[in-house]
Amino acid sequence: MSQTAQIETISTHQRTELRSLAEAAAQYSYSPYSHFRVGAALLLEDGTIITGCNVENCSYRLTSCAEQGAIARAVAEHGPDIRLRAVAVANLNAAASMPCGACRQTLTEFGDDQTLILYPGENGAPEETTLGELLPHAFRLDYLP
Ligand code: THU
Repeated sequence: MSQTAQIETISTHQRTELRSLAEAAAQYSYSPYSHFRVGAALLLEDGTIITGCNVENCSYRLTSCAEQGAIARAVAEHGPDIRLRAVAVANLNAAASMPCGACRQTLTEFGDDQTLILYPGENGAPEETTLGELLPHAFRLDYLP
């Protein structure tokens, strides 16, 4: 299936639901340091949706992003063969936010260039792109010997 065709199989209703579940997940954010409350919702190949939120730590670098938490939960609940059709990210700070660089690499492990990424743009406008656009030339499993 072409990139456009694959993305079109995700309905407007599903996109709205993913964004709203990501926002709901952000309510649980543990972010006493940045106060940036982030949620993520993953749409798996079988239609399951898994959510996560950011969890910070006083040793700042141990912070886990919302996408990382959602991926860990998805693997724990559905096993190592999960594949991502779409990922929505939301925050409760009315700020633009895309998955960070580290999260792009984490998502690439379970997604592909066609994985749809839904995120809030400037002024909270709902924006979308693909994982291939966010992380071109990614380091992939098949590079390993
Ligand atoms: N954060 C996420 O949860 N996901 C991202 O993709 C970007 C950043 C979190 C990490 C930290 O808790 C807060 O946002 C500020 O960087």
